[in-house]
Amino acid sequence: MATSDAKERIRTALDIADVVGDTVALKPAGKERLKGLCPFHQEKTPSFHVHAGRGFFYCFGCGAKGDIFDFVMQSQGVDFADALQLLGRRAGIDVTPNPASAAAGQRRKDLFAVNEFALQHFVGRMTDEAYGYLLNRGLTKESIDRWGLGWSVDAWDDLLKAALQQNVSEDDLLAAGLLSENERGRRYDRFRGRIMFPIRDRLGRTVGFSGRVLGDEVPKYVNTPETDVFDKGSVLYGLDQARSAIRDRATALVVEGYMDVIALHQTGFPHAVAALGATLTEAQAQELQRLGVDRVLLAFDADDAGQRAVLSGLDQSIGRSFRVEAITIPDGKDPADTVLGGAIDRFTQALEEGQSAVAFRLETALAKHDATTTAGRRAILDELGPSMEMHGPHDDVAAEMRRLVISALQLDEQQLAAWLRSRKRTSLTDVQLKGMERGARFDDDVLQVEAELMALLLSQADRLEGLVARVEPEIPPELEDSALRTFAAIAREEGFQVGAILARYRERPEGRVLFPRVLEHDEDEGLAPGQLERHLTTGLSRLRERVLDREAQEPRQGLTRRLEELQAQIQDASLSEADLKACYEELAEVHALLAARDAERRSRLPARSRRGGGRKH
Ligand code: UTP
Ligand code: MN
Repeated sequence: MATSDAKERIRTALDIADVVGDTVALKPAGKERLKGLCPFHQEKTPSFHVHAGRGFFYCFGCGAKGDIFDFVMQSQGVDFADALQLLGRRAGIDVTPNPASAAAGQRRKDLFAVNEFALQHFVGRMTDEAYGYLLNRGLTKESIDRWGLGWSVDAWDDLLKAALQQNVSEDDLLAAGLLSENERGRRYDRFRGRIMFPIRDRLGRTVGFSGRVLGDEVPKYVNTPETDVFDKGSVLYGLDQARSAIRDRATALVVEGYMDVIALHQTGFPHAVAALGATLTEAQAQELQRLGVDRVLLAFDADDAGQRAVLSGLDQSIGRSFRVEAITIPDGKDPADTVLGGAIDRFTQALEEGQSAVAFRLETALAKHDATTTAGRRAILDELGPSMEMHGPHDDVAAEMRRLVISALQLDEQQLAAWLRSRKRTSLTDVQLKGMERGARFDDDVLQVEAELMALLLSQADRLEGLVARVEPEIPPELEDSALRTFAAIAREEGFQVGAILARYRERPEGRVLFPRVLEHDEDEGLAPGQLERHLTTGLSRLRERVLDREAQEPRQGLTRRLEELQAQIQDASLSEADLKACYEELAEVHALLAARDAERRSRLPARSRRGGGRKH
């Protein structure tokens, strides 16, 4: 069965309230609606809503939203294919993927099995010497067992011979990265004479190995190369064991080594995982995000320079997604040796004293530019601007950066806010959200009206198809990138199923308006056709007004020009401190005037459309 068919059948067969109800205690909250404590953020009063009738969830507190598949993906930290399998099983619907991906899936399954075979082989080969080495470093028998540590015999074909006896082929071993091949095509065991650390993915499937020598030989570790199941950049070592601890704490402790992870789990830090490279990758960050992580503690390299390198190498987007802190471990030891050496309290203390990436970024900017000159201050603001943009309703990272900048540059909040707004007007042309709370509004008047219309249509689940057909031809042709037109296309693609359409808006800015509005709009369900028609006509004529306004831009001319002049002036490096301050002040004033004008026009519009039924074009 095609995936999309299976998806729709599962959606119809299952009740989202049942599925969510397995992990969240839900209470009725109106017709077909339930609410409970949000599983995606900490809260004391329930703001997490499930709309059983429409098949979606939305949290007024943190903005988490989506359909039944999103819920499973987000709450269990699995990908879409896994969610489809899980829910398919629950609904009794066969979700066999199409032949091509089935073949690829089979291949991956084979590689998991080959790795599992190798794991058992290595465990069976454990020697007293290797075992003694691990115990000597402080690991317990339980840890050695739990992490599947083993030994690879120092021979060319120990694994190879065992495999052939078990009907595991040479090709399979090669594909799993367990063999090496020389120039003459001779194949031999990749891992020889090493302690074997199996590397498992988040579901606990063995995807690769790392082998450590017992002494000081180099290389210290030999690793499985990239294979169909081993992508070094996306695996986090230990995530299968750390998942629930990470979810509970919303915090991940990211370290460098395998030994570190095992030692930390053994000594009471079950949220430790290792990145298998020099830094955290985007893919690894996404894994953590799916578990609801909001704080990442990096305990990478013992020295300060190392910490700085890690922090500055950190992708901006990762720094944005979490509160990141760099942990400096005392005495230049690594985490494993610290905690196994008994200094658990010191390690705990180090965790509490981490340097935040935000503070680090500010320090770097302050070191680079002279904060006593106007040009320097502007350079600092420019550099930190992106980190100060709010990316959600509770953006701790941006809030902290704003606080630090205000105190470091001795600005007041209004000055900073004016600067940020001017930055936004110049650098961001696309739609920006003003507030993300219940009454979420868009800066862009046109999109605001379009979003309201979309919400109105979505509230009329039973006649959605007819309404889309009715509204689409009336979208002003001047509006080239109409969000409403896109909406009509999406609605058609999703067969006019409200839940499915909303799911498509999970990542789009309009989603921030649509999810809450559809929840709240339900009282409109009983709208008489005449009333609905009036809402539609008003909405459409308002849309035409806004589009024409945007085209003409006339009422804004003077102020808009002044705004641009001021923005240009602020860029002028020779400006004195006093002049710059004056600029910011006037900028704040101009913004206030523009806002007042917007509000005034907004209040005028409905009256105008009552009188003239809107301008015709
Ligand atoms: P470390 O040298 O810190 O090793 O490398 P470790 O894991 O702490 O091991 P012990 O404490 O000396 O026993 C950190 C990580 O870097 C990778 C491994 O993932 C290792 O865990 N690494 C290191 C390699 O892949 N190859 C190497 O040769 C060395
Ligand atoms: Mn180490």
